[in-house]
Amino acid sequence: MDYASYLKLTQLLALQVPMTDYEREELIFITAHQSMELWFKVLLVEIKKLYGLFLDTTSRITLLLEGLNNCCLYWTVLITQFKGIKALSPMDFAKFRKILQGASGSQSEQYKAIERYLGISFESSSCNLREAVFNFLYQQERFVSSSKQNYLLNLYKKSHDHAMLIDKLLEFDECCERWRVEHLRLVKRMIGRKIGTGYSSAEKLSLQIDRYAFRELWELKDYL
Ligand code: HEM
Repeated sequence: MDYASYLKLTQLLALQVPMTDYEREELIFITAHQSMELWFKVLLVEIKKLYGLFLDTTSRITLLLEGLNNCCLYWTVLITQFKGIKALSPMDFAKFRKILQGASGSQSEQYKAIERYLGISFESSSCNLREAVFNFLYQQERFVSSSKQNYLLNLYKKSHDHAMLIDKLLEFDECCERWRVEHLRLVKRMIGRKIGTGYSSAEKLSLQIDRYAFRELWELKDYL
């Protein structure tokens, strides 16, 4: 066993296959997408693990915080990947864009799976982290509360650990939102108001920025 064989580098480095003479430009574009797909893969593993932990209403808060923290780190790595693609100018991109035909990021199965897990997708999912999180929170204490919102407010105010957990869940929501914002900026910079290869546009993407998995937790801040 050596470095290259363990990492399957021969196979990995053969996977960036430009289709035009703009090899340097396509390499940047392909690498940005492939590396994000790899980090989506890592993120999905962590989200699935978190989902399992939240299903168990006796899970330790420290474990949940750790998992959420890891997810936030992966989102940060993902967001940073958008920097590399800045080396590709909009003019360079325009030169080979037509070979993409109908290929679009909106077909990313892993990204769609992430949105389904978070419960912010238009498609429903049997494994919904959002639902598992609220079920977990509602089972934590036996407060007498007039509403679910009051219960959550009590939990936030009376339990330091749960307040930390709730704030970390909001940070997680924020990270996903930052990915969408950074992607939208990139889309505007690269193709302006043109229609995307998946027949959407920057204008339509901008309408999808404000989607939070934990909306009810954001609303608590109105009443503190
Ligand atoms: C030149 C750079 C890029 C441009 C111009 C671009 C453009 C677009 C556009 C216009 C859409 C909307 C659907 C469509 O009409 O195609 C979209 C969606 C998407 N793109 Fe990109 N993109 C770029 C880079 C990336 C990168 C590096 C990734 C990383 C995997 C990515 C992932 C996605 C995903 C996951 C969606 C679906 C988002 C959603 O449904 O909310 N894109 N992109």
